[in-house]
Amino acid sequence: MTLHEELTAIAEEARSWRRQIHQYPELLFDLPRTAKLVAEKLEEFGCDEVATGIAKSGVVGVIRGRRGEGPTIALRADMDALPMSEQTNLPHASKVANMMHACGHDGHTAMLLGTAKHLAASRDFAGTVVLVFQPAEEGGAGGRMMIEEGLLERFGIDEVFGMHNEPGLAVGSFATRPGAIMAAGDRFVVTLRGRGGHAAAPHLARDPVLAGAHLVTAIQSIASRHTDPFDPVVVSVTYLAGGSATALNVIPAAIEIGGTIRTIATETRKAVEARFRDIVTTTARLFEAEAEIDWRPGYPVTFNDPAMTGAAIAAAASVAGAERVDGDYPCTMGSEDFSYMLQKRPGAIIWLGNGDSAGLHHPAYDFNDDAIIHGIGYWAALVDARLNDRDG
Ligand code: NI
Repeated sequence: MTLHEELTAIAEEARSWRRQIHQYPELLFDLPRTAKLVAEKLEEFGCDEVATGIAKSGVVGVIRGRRGEGPTIALRADMDALPMSEQTNLPHASKVANMMHACGHDGHTAMLLGTAKHLAASRDFAGTVVLVFQPAEEGGAGGRMMIEEGLLERFGIDEVFGMHNEPGLAVGSFATRPGAIMAAGDRFVVTLRGRGGHAAAPHLARDPVLAGAHLVTAIQSIASRHTDPFDPVVVSVTYLAGGSATALNVIPAAIEIGGTIRTIATETRKAVEARFRDIVTTTARLFEAEAEIDWRPGYPVTFNDPAMTGAAIAAAASVAGAERVDGDYPCTMGSEDFSYMLQKRPGAIIWLGNGDSAGLHHPAYDFNDDAIIHGIGYWAALVDARLNDRDG
């Protein structure tokens, strides 16, 4: 059997694992069913070591090559779904209300399992492959928790690699870039407190709604007036709460405003936070309100090591053909928990084409099973490139 025939057969199996996982999505760290399936498969494939319960529900498989000593590289997939309702009407659609694999982590998990099956059977490399299945990518920083629990030291990981599907990119194509590939995503909730009162006598109240309206507008000046136009910044207000639709003659005592701020450069991230705090405090004072800022730092910038990105591009080109690999893909303002691993070890994340599908986090999204063979092929080629014939 040729490598391509073997990987094609594995991809066919991985398609059914993907659909099983898709039907029973689980959230954040609460992944009993998914983590169990992953651990059972890794045992079944004959991994040298299978560790469970890292960061509550993370799973790690270790496969040592039969060609002797060499470096240790980690390949990472995420396992968690999103708290939203699926609207695909597919036969394998989610069977769980208000939970859905709308970011393709089911596909990422299935592809890494397929890779594990191939690597455990062939072991045709010098060194060690660590398969990292992480919980809580969607806002829970499960990857960071795995690092805090000693993942990198425990398994002696030298390099880290990630892969995420990309709707809009053709199936069989890959894309990445050296340096910043995804943004830092911080979040905020501001509570504006005034003094409630009768809507007909606003002069006796201190209206937080008016202060809030000005605030929503004022913080848009951060990206438009305060930062370099060539340095990407996004400020989005996504949450407004206060008052009551059944008490429209009442000025509320307080309102809440929340949202997210995305940046690429570390200095800009700090400067934007400072500017945000300044505008919030000043605007509140202007309208005789008081502001309380709950600043919630999110994932840092996802930064691809240039040399490792070169290796990722070469591996992708070896399976897809150079013409189907974009090595200078634009940075996006999304954010990614894999950023923490990339802060600690050299590595790179790559986009895998998901074809003409609905976008990530959309209720009509589904991972494209036709991408599985390409994902597994990439992982296999990357292991071969990093752990074989490094000195010719
Ligand atoms: Ni995702």
